[in-house]
Amino acid sequence: MDDLTVIVLAAGGGTRMKSKTMKVLHPIAGRSMLAHVLAAAQSLEPARIVTVVGNQRDQVAPHVQELVPEAVIAVQESQDGTGHAVRVAWEALPAEARRGTVVVAYGDTPLLQGESLRAFADFHLGSQHAMSILTGRVADPFGYGRVIRDESGVAAIVEEKDATEAQAAVDEINSGILAFDADFLDAALPRIGNDNAKGEYYLTETVALARDDGRTVGAFVLDDVRQTEGANDRAQLAALAKEMNRRILDRWMREGVTVVDPDTTWVDADVKLARDVTILPGVQLLGATVVAEDAVVGPDCTLKDMEVGEGATVVRTHGELGVIGAGANVGPFSYLRPGTELGAAGKIGAFVETKNAQIGEGAKVPHLSYVGDAEIGEGTNIGAGTIFANYDGVQKHRTTVGRHARTGSNNTFVAPVTIGDGASTGGGTVVREDVPSGALAVSSGPQRNVEGWAQRRRPGTKQAEAAEEAASRGTAPELGGTGPVGDNQE
Ligand code: UD1
Ligand code: CA
Repeated sequence: MDDLTVIVLAAGGGTRMKSKTMKVLHPIAGRSMLAHVLAAAQSLEPARIVTVVGNQRDQVAPHVQELVPEAVIAVQESQDGTGHAVRVAWEALPAEARRGTVVVAYGDTPLLQGESLRAFADFHLGSQHAMSILTGRVADPFGYGRVIRDESGVAAIVEEKDATEAQAAVDEINSGILAFDADFLDAALPRIGNDNAKGEYYLTETVALARDDGRTVGAFVLDDVRQTEGANDRAQLAALAKEMNRRILDRWMREGVTVVDPDTTWVDADVKLARDVTILPGVQLLGATVVAEDAVVGPDCTLKDMEVGEGATVVRTHGELGVIGAGANVGPFSYLRPGTELGAAGKIGAFVETKNAQIGEGAKVPHLSYVGDAEIGEGTNIGAGTIFANYDGVQKHRTTVGRHARTGSNNTFVAPVTIGDGASTGGGTVVREDVPSGALAVSSGPQRNVEGWAQRRRPGTKQAEAAEEAASRGTAPELGGTGPVGDNQE
């Protein structure tokens, strides 16, 4: 919007959060509360955004600069009220920028939508009002400024502490979001006094000033008043987070995503879901996670910054910064650490931890393994209980396993090591040297059976008894006959 300035107030202390983190920086749906408000402000494409910082500004200012590099940061040294805060913002702008329309919002109202701000700004621009107020009707107006109307519009905003009993009973409240004609604001700011119950410079005093000037003040009622709700303590933060989550899930369900249990499903604001994705109970999709069509996630998964391919299934899994290919299967009880890339139709199974591992198309790590700093070629099967020993106590090393290899159970691959295409390893192999393509590697020596050991060395035990009984029945197992590649799990 041409000549629109948005001022976001974020200087207040937020002491009720009882936190070393500044209030507006507390996250909801994967973004800080302030980031949500700035995104709404940016969606208006204003000519300029000013953010007023004060308390813990060493935390807040860099955050704003990262999110909106072109934003003007105005520093309010002491928090003397919303009128003072806007004055500080105004004075931070060069004289030639103090024109057009000014919208004031707060940094702690994360549910605020850009469309609502736009409708409000349009309402003000289409009117002759010196200023307009975004208002709402609430069941319990306690703590809010009450909107006092008369025949020509809004006559005043009266703060809780200054309200008479009759005024306190008014259920239309000032959301805190205001729009001004710049000329009026410019003239009004120096006239705001602090003669009130709190001894603060109230921005809301501009209503009376406009009326004194013979100007009118408009009110734009927002039906969805929760959009302007702020969080002052952790309980309100949780309530707003729940409400935002409900709204996010509603939107995805309207877009064709099945959410089996919205009460136990949490999806961050920046997550992207395709049609016909199914989310089972107990799932958190966080950060920049993307889930493609027909994938089924859950129950009980936490995926952060993950990419889940078309038709993949992910069950009881914790995954971060990785890729799960189309049609792949993950879980249950899998831990995918950053840098895991599972190819199409691949498998990471039960009790498997992976990290910085590229697992090829159709390759499988089905059971009880650790795969760190590895590349596994397409179609390869890694036997149960395999450890990719990537760490020598000082440095990390990589392991490469070729295509269509078959490695035995309970192997250790001591990195750096390479196992060739189509190679095999026997059960219990410790691979310390490269295995050529097509070779079978075995590292344990031939098995030696010491006959009658239990009877001699454990006499009088149930073990010895069982051995004795078996010997007398002649049911002792045949010697020999087991090949070196036992226990190759599929
Ligand atoms: C304010 C409004 C009230 C409205 C309510 C809506 C005034 C005088 N009152 O009251 O009519 O119903 O919001 O929530 O405007 N801030 C600064 N610097 C300051 C003071 C405040 O940056 O010196 C920021 C705070 O960080 C906060 C916002 O302005 O984000 C509102 O300040 P707060 O003191 O909470 O105002 P309320 O008393 O809630
Ligand atoms: Ca407040």
